[in-house]
Amino acid sequence: MSVNPQMSLSESTTARFAKEVAKYPADQKQSAVMACLAIVQQEQGFMSAESERQVAEYLGMPAMAVHEVTTFYNMYNQQPCGKFKLNVCTNLPCQLRGGGKALQDLETKLSIKMGQTTADGLFTLQQSECLGACADSPVLLVNDRDMCSFMSTERLVALVDGLRESAGASVSASPTSATPQKEQA
Ligand code: FES
Repeated sequence: MSVNPQMSLSESTTARFAKEVAKYPADQKQSAVMACLAIVQQEQGFMSAESERQVAEYLGMPAMAVHEVTTFYNMYNQQPCGKFKLNVCTNLPCQLRGGGKALQDLETKLSIKMGQTTADGLFTLQQSECLGACADSPVLLVNDRDMCSFMSTERLVALVDGLRESAGASVSASPTSATPQKEQA
């Protein structure tokens, strides 16, 4: 009898994987790797080595190939994150229009450094590569989904305060409600 300390995927997770795999030809199920990883992250909050191994096993691909995907795309969290993940673009075009200052403003407002999570578990601050909205810089992304544009110091403070308030006000708080709307420069 083999000793296997590794855990298996839950039935519900496997069912969700199967739906994604069904979108591709039977001999190309590895094409569902990003969708399966997104499911794992949605359920667990981050990608562990064990999760990567499970996805690899399910899709019949090397664990290293899955790891390459999770480390290439920064929407996959390598460790547990706060309720709100803030990704500030610090690529060159944004740097020329205040991207670095936006990151510093958030470090000051949150009393953490880039890459850290606040002690209350609410905010994780990260820098990111180009978010495809250079003309709107400085920009940041909340939880990989909600783009915030033209983020002056005042707007950053308002964003953090709004997200903090929404987290306290409702367990189902959506960052969208506190996200400043895009406006013209
Ligand atoms: S460089 Fe920041 S969005 Fe493109």
